[in-house]
Amino acid sequence: MADTQQQVAIVGCGIIGRTHAKTIAERPDAIVTALVDGDAAAREALRAQLTEAGQPEPKVYDDLTAALSGSDVTLVAICTPSGTHAALAEEALNEKKHVVIEKPLDVDLVRARRLGAAAARAASHGVVSSVISQHRFDHGSAVVKQAIDAGRFGQLTSSVATVAWWRSDEYYASAGWRGTWAQDGGGALMNQGVHTVDLMLWFMGRPVSIQAQALRAAHHAIEVEDTVVATLTFENGAVGTLHATTAAFPGGRTRVSVHGTEGGAEVEDDRLRRLNVDGSKDDAPTDGEPGGHEAQYDDILKAIAAGNAPAITVQDAIDALATVRAVYIASTLQRPVKFVDVLEGRYDDVDVSRGVGLPPN
Ligand SMILES: NC(=O)c1ccc[n+]([C@@H]2O[C@H](COP(=O)([O-])OP(=O)(O)OC[C@H]3O[C@@H](n4cnc5c(N)ncnc54)[C@H](O)[C@@H]3O)[C@@H](O)[C@H]2O)c1
Repeated sequence: MADTQQQVAIVGCGIIGRTHAKTIAERPDAIVTALVDGDAAAREALRAQLTEAGQPEPKVYDDLTAALSGSDVTLVAICTPSGTHAALAEEALNEKKHVVIEKPLDVDLVRARRLGAAAARAASHGVVSSVISQHRFDHGSAVVKQAIDAGRFGQLTSSVATVAWWRSDEYYASAGWRGTWAQDGGGALMNQGVHTVDLMLWFMGRPVSIQAQALRAAHHAIEVEDTVVATLTFENGAVGTLHATTAAFPGGRTRVSVHGTEGGAEVEDDRLRRLNVDGSKDDAPTDGEPGGHEAQYDDILKAIAAGNAPAITVQDAIDALATVRAVYIASTLQRPVKFVDVLEGRYDDVDVSRGVGLPPN
């Protein structure tokens, strides 16, 4: 065993917990030592998956506290329902463990800010915290970001982002937390769309003002929105639109476009579809693969080994969460809201469940 090998506890052995386990199993510098899930069937299935793949047998636990005292753990991967993320991450940070937190950071900004402070304190002791947003590691997204940072699109003027997916009623019924305010924290935008929100902010910078309309267009039985549209202004002076839905049968595309005075780009379904730079009308596409969890774990494990900050920080994820919350608050209040007011807590007491209507007829 390499002496730099991270010993990983996976907390939450559902759909995405399995992706984390598989990603870690393929790396020489990390090993899964503990599996945590209150559902015995879920943790046993993942234990079997790992041992069948030739991995050393991890210990299984029904809560994180037991795993932290029972196993050798240096890194905790939090793969539980979204509303549990911040509390579990704080518990791990208090024990000086590195943390990888699935998106979204949490559903609640008060908890997210507390976690931000805990992560900053832990970082001063060399403890790394990162939040999954794997599409920043897609080749196409990285090319767009580099072009923006080098000024190759000129002055940015606008951005359009759309996530047009379909999720069935069976999907929402498949786990009790899905489609609830308390644990999913929102619908099409918070769950499916937060990746795209994060990309939009990475490209365009922080928003200034947001207005929005959220509704349950097709899935009337869930609490949260299945469709939302929003307009944003950004600190750089550009404007943007954001659209996310799980009511687009049979499921359309995810696209982020960035437009400027000397060029622009479109990323569609994680691939670069158009790239114009430096005032040229010629498309300058460069092909490349989506990065996935593999690329983000590579970044995180290298950051831990080198004692550096990871590419995606808790503060990045707070910004994405605050943007999603701002959309819900704007839809609830039926007026534009300032991003900074949401970020700093001036709307913390707004009950956003009132802001998601049914279609008028
Ligand atoms: N990055 C991505 O592309 C991506 C994809 C899917 C899901 N996710 C995120 O991953 C998280 C989990 O989603 P999922 O689809 O895997 O859900 P899931 O319902 O399939 O799995 C969640 C698991 O967590 C367990 N659990 C609940 N509370 C727990 C606790 N306190 N301690 C330990 N285990 C607990 C449940 O029993 C369940 O087995 C969500 O936040 C979701 O947004 C991210």
